Amino acid sequence: MTDPMIAIHALEKSYGIYKALHAVSLDVAPGEFFSLLGPSGCGKTTLLRSIAGFETPSAGDIRIDGESVIGKAPNQRPTNMVFQNYAIFPHLSVAENVAYGLKRLKLSPSEEKRRVSEALDQVRLGSYGERRAQQLSGGQRQRVALARALVLRPKVLLLDEPLSALDKKLREEMQVELRALQRAVGITFVLVTHDQYEALALSDRIAVMFAGRVAQIATPKEIYQHPQSREVAAFLGGMNFLSGRILNETATSLSVEAGRFGTVAATKPAGFTRTGETTALGIRPERLRILWEPQDTPHQITGTVVDRDYFGETTHLRIRAEGLDEPLSVIETNSFGADDLPRGATVQLAYDPEAFVALAD
Ligand SMILES: Nc1ncnc2c1ncn2[C@@H]1O[C@H](COP(=O)(O)OP(=O)(O)O)[C@@H](O)[C@H]1O
Ligand SMILES: [Mg+2]
Repeated sequence: MTDPMIAIHALEKSYGIYKALHAVSLDVAPGEFFSLLGPSGCGKTTLLRSIAGFETPSAGDIRIDGESVIGKAPNQRPTNMVFQNYAIFPHLSVAENVAYGLKRLKLSPSEEKRRVSEALDQVRLGSYGERRAQQLSGGQRQRVALARALVLRPKVLLLDEPLSALDKKLREEMQVELRALQRAVGITFVLVTHDQYEALALSDRIAVMFAGRVAQIATPKEIYQHPQSREVAAFLGGMNFLSGRILNETATSLSVEAGRFGTVAATKPAGFTRTGETTALGIRPERLRILWEPQDTPHQITGTVVDRDYFGETTHLRIRAEGLDEPLSVIETNSFGADDLPRGATVQLAYDPEAFVALAD
């Protein structure tokens, strides 16, 4: 990696006897869209506010663009923050709201105007400068908050669940915009979210956090396909958990005897260490496929439909297979009739014996 834009080393934060961050270390590259993902209360906001300078860490270091920012006030850091409840002034115009962030720079009126209109163009509100902020929709207000943060040209933009107040449809539209905006301005973004799909769709890399610790840092695809632990696997999407006996091991994969599934190859995630003769295994619900025509492949098992939920484009099924304690979760697209399968139907499930992942506990 080139020199990181943000380098966090062994960061700790305690509130009294409660430790909100435990030895957090991570690097964010210049121009990267980086997300902090985890359940409510895991320390995402505490970490973001520590980068911004609104919290004082108990130990550890934060360097931004090569310089330690410990002890520096928020306005002495090359960062700016967009809050969950974007505090814009309803009685001011859109342009006045954006200009507010610039006041302390004491620019000439013409330069100030130029910077404001540039920031409004960036968030596609170029023609809204004269509107009162209270006349705007929720999505437009959020764009004003973004423009106000961008107008100061920070090196790093910190965003704390900026879209969580919006309804689902608008949130999805704003996600696309946020990603496009980040590419256009090229500023390093650090986004806090508890929404796995938001993190997967937007980020170059994701840090998954639980209980004040970073559990895994990787690209969306790597995190989804090769989660390092059961906890990460279960937090991002569905996962069928199995166990198996290790037969053989290479640097990158395990050969595992997995009961009814026979001998399968399981990818070893980075940092996986073998603890014994057995291992936990996972296979994603969309990697199990209903066979609509009999097929002569050894990689299939027989099961019975226990339950199904209809989601429009997909059906989520629970299928009990012989020899397994828990029903398997299976996701099928509805083009082939999964939505019409009755409870109790017997099906053949095919799987790729390479689609398994080994999981540390
Ligand atoms: N000012 C504070 N005083 C005491 N505890 C706090 C304070 N701020 C946060 N916490 C606690 O620290 C933990 C992490 O909080 P937070 O960083 O807000 O989590 P997240 O943003 O992931 O939901 C929570 O248990 C929270 O209750
Ligand atoms: Mg939070």
